[in-house]
Amino acid sequence: MSGVTGFPRGWFVVCFSSDLAVGQTRAMRYFGRDLAAWRGEDGAVRVTDAHCPHLGAHLAIGGKVCGNNIECPFHAWRFGGDGVCAEIPYATKIPPRAQVRSWPVHEQNGHVMVWHAGAGGAAPDFSIPAIPEYGSDGWLPWATSQYQIKTHPREIVDNLADRAHFPRVHSTDISQFDFTVEGHTATQFVKGLAHLASGGTDPFSSTTTYHGPGYLLMRMKGALQNYMLLTHTPVEENLLDLRLAVTLKVVGDRTTTEGYVGKYMDNLRQGFEDDIRIWEHKVYKEPAMLCEGDGPIGRLRRWYRQFYPGQAAASEGQ
Ligand code: FES
Ligand SMILES: [Fe+2]
Repeated sequence: MSGVTGFPRGWFVVCFSSDLAVGQTRAMRYFGRDLAAWRGEDGAVRVTDAHCPHLGAHLAIGGKVCGNNIECPFHAWRFGGDGVCAEIPYATKIPPRAQVRSWPVHEQNGHVMVWHAGAGGAAPDFSIPAIPEYGSDGWLPWATSQYQIKTHPREIVDNLADRAHFPRVHSTDISQFDFTVEGHTATQFVKGLAHLASGGTDPFSSTTTYHGPGYLLMRMKGALQNYMLLTHTPVEENLLDLRLAVTLKVVGDRTTTEGYVGKYMDNLRQGFEDDIRIWEHKVYKEPAMLCEGDGPIGRLRRWYRQFYPGQAAASEGQ
């Protein structure tokens, strides 16, 4: 028993902000549930369970945004972001239980997130920090990419502490590797030399922090300065959406920096695809058989268990 099965608790990205314009709806599936998202006239995103309590239509498929509410495509019942039915066009009395489950939403750094409470049902108890440079003139807008991967989130998170896979999987020599955990955050600090597919080398240093179980922010300093946001969200227990967003610091001329984005993204994608091939076919070893030179995988896993309330206590006792 690994202590980390099912869905973790925390903030999880469900779409890029640019995926959802004012007045738009979006059907989504995360945490094994169908969800409906929409952006109201006030610019705020709402997310609820998808199926109308009346006769079960999917609110986001054919439904429309009216003010800040969503109108069901079937008989036009309207629901607010709190999930409560606000209006039925042909009835004056609204059934008291006419309600869908509403999800806490937080939009920041160009990403829309929901809070998944997990088995303990806890309300949000940490927040996602703003990236101070995001949206400023000196930095390019996000370049984004997305994958759907057949694996459990614990495999993605393991990577943060897995020092020994860098040279093999990512052609990167590591000269310094530090790892710390604090509350809901886990941080990796790396200095290394990346061997590029194009033949050159890129000395770099990076600081990479998980803010909760599914939101990773990396600040890299090398030939290019950038932030990378790597977020993953469970669709089903062993299927997840991985999103990648990169912003480069403008160095010299903006157009020249923009010219690097495509190549940079290709390199990053290649790196992830090398990981993905392993993730999709591996099994989870717990406890892992570790040796000298491995990263602090045990410490990372102890940190990660906090996001699976109820299971952690059971596995500690084993
Ligand atoms: S099913 Fe939604 S209003 Fe009837
Ligand atoms: Fe990796």
